[in-house]
Amino acid sequence: MTEASPFRSEAPAYDLVVQQLIPGYTSLARLAVALLAASPRAGQADAAVLVAGCGTGAELLEARAQRPDWRLTAIDPAAAMLAIARERLVGAAGIHWQQATVEQLGALDAFDGAMAVLVLQSLADDGSKLAFLSSLARAVRPGGQVVLVDLMRPEGSPLQSQMEAAWLGYQRASGLAAPDEALAGLSQGLFPIGTARLTALVNAAGFSDPAPVFKALDVEGFLLQRRA
Ligand SMILES: C[S@@+](CC[C@H](N)C(=O)[O-])C[C@H]1O[C@@H](n2cnc3c(N)ncnc32)[C@H](O)[C@@H]1O
Repeated sequence: MTEASPFRSEAPAYDLVVQQLIPGYTSLARLAVALLAASPRAGQADAAVLVAGCGTGAELLEARAQRPDWRLTAIDPAAAMLAIARERLVGAAGIHWQQATVEQLGALDAFDGAMAVLVLQSLADDGSKLAFLSSLARAVRPGGQVVLVDLMRPEGSPLQSQMEAAWLGYQRASGLAAPDEALAGLSQGLFPIGTARLTALVNAAGFSDPAPVFKALDVEGFLLQRRA
């Protein structure tokens, strides 16, 4: 991982920094798994579920706790992140690990559901976001759902400057060193888009309109469903 953004901190520091950065981060994995577990396809026993960009394993730990029957595939291109996830989940059965991007996985109709938490934001909107989303849509079966969580670009709210100040305050209160630098760093190496652009991209990729399920300042979560 590069050092351009605090979302891309060295793997060992990732878990602490991400909690200091994102209000509600510790609930995200629990919510993502609960949403998918309540979906028609992944809700079924022994469902096959993809954790795309598993990082240090937050969603995997939660999936194991809530749905020990799920057959999990955990992928991430970053060896250091995968190594931490594997260590945290040592002894956990039913996880297929692969060091790969979703695009490299090339899976077709293989999963009943998927999660991609804080992944799309790091891809440029130069065809890379669409390639990622299209690969994700092909990987899940028709009707399968994906929980997508990302840093979004704010869309002209009159409260925006208050939101930014609140975010800095949150980070300071969480003990983050140099929150001003951290917030400035968010604009480097990350490519947030607005809801209208996200809707266009997920539609082009083969999903239905994104349904909002989470929002904390500019971090938002959506449920996508692959069109039949
Ligand atoms: C900010 S971390 C999020 C990790 C975890 N999902 C979480 O919520 O803590 C983003 C992860 O996505 C991975 N990643 C980046 N591009 C990817 C891609 N195209 N396919 C799959 N994973 C990717 C990165 O290596 C990184 O580990």
